[in-house]
Amino acid sequence: LFRGAPILYSQIRKMDDIALDAAKKTAARTAVDQWVTEDTKILGIGSGSTVVYAVQRIAERVWKEGELTDLICVPSSYQAHHLILDYNLNLGDLDRNPNIDVAIDGADEVDRHMVLIKGGGGCLLQEKVVASCAKNFIVVADYTKNSIRLGEQWCRGVPIEVAPMAYVPIKLHIEALFGGEASLRMAKVKAGPIVTDNGNFLLDWKFIANREYDWDEVNKAITMIPGVLETGLFVNMAQKCYFGMADGNVKVQN
Ligand code: 5RP
Repeated sequence: LFRGAPILYSQIRKMDDIALDAAKKTAARTAVDQWVTEDTKILGIGSGSTVVYAVQRIAERVWKEGELTDLICVPSSYQAHHLILDYNLNLGDLDRNPNIDVAIDGADEVDRHMVLIKGGGGCLLQEKVVASCAKNFIVVADYTKNSIRLGEQWCRGVPIEVAPMAYVPIKLHIEALFGGEASLRMAKVKAGPIVTDNGNFLLDWKFIANREYDWDEVNKAITMIPGVLETGLFVNMAQKCYFGMADGNVKVQN
């Protein structure tokens, strides 16, 4: 009886992963087809597993359907940079393309007011810069990211990019201001801190899940702490969020 149990569990996990991947793919493809048109000249490319499906759909339209051939893609991370190159799309940068028409990115959690937690992959700083340069910032995610209030879903908390020499005072400052616990993100394999694309450390702040936070205020207050480069709280930035649902449909949230 007990020998069979782990097999069953891994099979269920696999089915869950397949369902989540399908949801990510549907959300990403729907958003690309609704937002990326022949009028889109500059596209911001976010990071994470859902964005891969968005880039695949763009590449399909460029290379199979002969559309969007002049589209320039501006990456928000090292991962996005290589994704653009791997799919042979036109690579841009903010020096030459500071006005982005549409940026498409994933999220770790989205609440009912369209406040996002981002940075699960550690790319929040560049993601926020790229999103802030976009006329339209569109989020793509699977149904597990859709919350009424932040903290409902399992996540590591709010990622915060910090200067390496300042992570301890910043951690103490955040905990004193807002409670919860901020911990340094460590690499799983190498026993050391994760270093971001910008050479910084990440704190994951586990806030008090059932407390009502004013996220705009929290974001501003944390950003003001010396040594903080950026937070993974995206407030008043996303225009629409596409959630791939378990039943194969897409839910659009404004
Ligand atoms: C990376 C991010 C990602 O967009 C976020 O973690 C969502 O990733 P995924 O699409 O794999 O669920 O913010 O810094």
